[in-house]
Amino acid sequence: MIGHERLLLENKAWAMEKLQDDPGFFERMKDTQEPEYLWIGCSDSRVPANEVTGTQPGEIFVHRNIANMVVHTDLNMLSVLQYAVQVLKVKHVIVCGHYGCGGVKAAMTQTSLGIINKWLRNIKDVYRFHQEEIETFNSDEKKVNRLIELNVKEQVMNLAKTSIVQKAWKDHQRPYLHGWVYGLDNGILHPIFEMAPGSQLERIYTFDNL
Ligand code: CO
Repeated sequence: MIGHERLLLENKAWAMEKLQDDPGFFERMKDTQEPEYLWIGCSDSRVPANEVTGTQPGEIFVHRNIANMVVHTDLNMLSVLQYAVQVLKVKHVIVCGHYGCGGVKAAMTQTSLGIINKWLRNIKDVYRFHQEEIETFNSDEKKVNRLIELNVKEQVMNLAKTSIVQKAWKDHQRPYLHGWVYGLDNGILHPIFEMAPGSQLERIYTFDNL
């Protein structure tokens, strides 16, 4: 069997099993979704949002990119965020990084990797903000893992700097913002940072006419 055909076969088995466990499952799914969570995670194949959180189809709206970044010029991420917050009315937005992230590791080198340089530049900026702290760690692995935690925190703050989140905080007192880091070696999600609706930001990032 050719590799990808296995996926189609497994899909048939999955759909059949789902139906056996819960005959109304697909009937409920087909017309609407009401997820309470938006997940902004790394594209890494080892961190599947539903699987690591034990959630079902319909429960998490998902956006993934290299190193779970919230970049204000990223039309894709902004469109997902706006739809999730304004239309789906999610209660929580989770930025989830993971220890050993290849994107963060690459950003800590001085190797040119082509077009991805521009994406990794955003992580290099996070390194520069926190260089002093990161360099206190005595191994490359510890430095990378601390940057991974700090990067998640910065991306949560980048969410709070959007007019989308600030307007929803003002009008609807949601969403809560969470920064988590997943351990590839033990499967555990570690909460690193969170911001409740209405949290104070540095004045320069706060819009006063929303
Ligand atoms: Co990664």
